[in-house]
Amino acid sequence: MASPPLICPSILASDFAKLGEEVAAIEAAGADWVHVDVMDGHFVPNITIGPDVVKALRPHTTLPFDVHLMVAPVDPWLEAYRAAGADVLSVHPESGPHLHRTLGRIRQLGAKAGVVLNPGTPLSVLDEVIDLVDLVLLMSVNPGFGGQSFIDSALRKIERTRALLDAAGSKAHLQVDGGVTALNAGACVAAGADALVAGTAVFKGGPACYAANIAGLKGVAA
Ligand code: DX5
Ligand code: ZN
Repeated sequence: MASPPLICPSILASDFAKLGEEVAAIEAAGADWVHVDVMDGHFVPNITIGPDVVKALRPHTTLPFDVHLMVAPVDPWLEAYRAAGADVLSVHPESGPHLHRTLGRIRQLGAKAGVVLNPGTPLSVLDEVIDLVDLVLLMSVNPGFGGQSFIDSALRKIERTRALLDAAGSKAHLQVDGGVTALNAGACVAAGADALVAGTAVFKGGPACYAANIAGLKGVAA
């Protein structure tokens, strides 16, 4: 049986009036990484979290900050989010003209480099950059909002990505984001994912439910 996946709660679904308490609560509840969805109202139709907010959150948890940049152009923002405390910086290939350079820059800044593939983005984007990638994030919804439904064709794409990473000898994480629930988490892991982003499924019910929600996603009892 596959080992439990890393659970990366998306704070997009948390109470924004209590962000510091929310990240501390998910850490206490067993979360592995904090997933931060950064949206610019241009690359995606929503605006969310700037680097100052990430900086303000940094003292509230020891968990790695997994920052998903939905910003174009993305290059001018890498340094600010890294300085604010990001440990992983993930970028969409559509958010800049030079993916190879962008990934190299992220590693140069001392962060893990992630590539994010939208449902409509082909896996072949990875071919020329696989050696520069520490994480592949497969979107199982179109980015922009939490609370959307999981697109089932993502499962086959997870399998194909797992095969591609294994064939390349890559140790990159394979993370899935969007509409992940306790009902489809097991299928994602069986298909080859080792990290799951979940917003709604972690934060539903409030802090008293976080531990059970995270355990449900890991496929273990709370
Ligand atoms: C979508 C974001 C996701 C999303 C996850 O653009 O990247 O991280 O907020 O939220 P749920 O789990 O509610 O689909
Ligand atoms: Zn995300």
